[in-house]
Amino acid sequence: MTPVRFGVIGVGIIGRQHVARLLADNGTAELVAIADSSEDAARAVAAEYGTEAMPLGSLLARADVDAIVIAIPSGLHADVAVAALEAGKHVLLEKPIDVTVEAADRIIAAERRSGRVLSVVSQRRFLPESQFLHRSIRSGVFGSITSATVEIALWRTQEYYDSGAWRGTWALDGGGALMNQGVHMVDMILWLLGEVEEVHAYGGLLAHENIEVEDTISITARFASGAVLTFLASTTAFGDLPIRVAIMGDGGTAVTAAGKFEHFVSAQGSEPPEFASRDMEREQLVDFVEAIQCDREPLVTSSQARAAVAFIEAAYESMRTGRAVRPR
Ligand SMILES: NC(=O)c1ccc[n+]([C@@H]2O[C@H](COP(=O)([O-])OP(=O)(O)OC[C@H]3O[C@@H](n4cnc5c(N)ncnc54)[C@H](O)[C@@H]3O)[C@@H](O)[C@H]2O)c1
Repeated sequence: MTPVRFGVIGVGIIGRQHVARLLADNGTAELVAIADSSEDAARAVAAEYGTEAMPLGSLLARADVDAIVIAIPSGLHADVAVAALEAGKHVLLEKPIDVTVEAADRIIAAERRSGRVLSVVSQRRFLPESQFLHRSIRSGVFGSITSATVEIALWRTQEYYDSGAWRGTWALDGGGALMNQGVHMVDMILWLLGEVEEVHAYGGLLAHENIEVEDTISITARFASGAVLTFLASTTAFGDLPIRVAIMGDGGTAVTAAGKFEHFVSAQGSEPPEFASRDMEREQLVDFVEAIQCDREPLVTSSQARAAVAFIEAAYESMRTGRAVRPR
């Protein structure tokens, strides 16, 4: 297979990582050029990495670019993703898909019209532990799943929020601990346990200043299966706790912390499986490239990424109104 040729739009903190990964790749992907609304940022990154910078429109018009990585502020994802799809490019979009269900729907409509592949970054799904947990749940290793808990209790300094005008705003970050950091684990638990029917949340801005969004939120939810979920997302946990997922079923239980199994009990035994570490971001890049080359769905689909945003919107509505909310 010939490598897929990429452009990267948005070369801030995470876009630079995409640039470095694409340049390091051999055989799967190639980097052709980059674009950023800040000409200075684009020029500086182009000089540092030895690649070409150009205006966004010129990048999308290039016939030698097959796919675009988009790593711009979250609330701007839809406009650029739709433009890239309409230019005939495949799109690997940073998380979240965008910050509203309406924006996600615009992207999904453009994806369908274009017939191109679109995936949203959710790299933790590509950990071997996540894949194993997913397979174990699907094959009934834990019996009937009754409940799950997820904790993503991290620490983000005030300087982090002050480092970009878009951070911590409803319009462009779309939320705080849940929409920005927590979305990874919302996507994970929906992938593992399926559709959520109802969400109830408490949260607020408890430890930061000069941001609009929540920095702590606690959610309870009920899956369509009847299983219940407790989910905590925070950027106020000084010292960062390991991200933790617990799955409870009538035939087994599992706990992962920082991606590794710390508990795994089923009828077949109680030895937590161990896996060699993998480069999860590269695994997702390879999945995206193979989806293009083999004309198949990527592991993370646009409709799944939309479901994560619908869950988060429901949690925010519940936080504001005090009522239980059904995700759209
Ligand atoms: N997958 C992950 O683990 C992960 C981690 C961090 C951030 N992200 C996501 O990556 C995205 C970017 O985050 P970041 O921390 O790199 O932000 P950043 O502020 O460091 O970088 C954003 C870049 O986009 C550029 N930009 C803004 N508007 C643009 C536009 N309309 N067209 C072109 N360029 C534009 C800015 O000039 C800047 O260089 C966000 O959606 C964020 O949620 C994902």
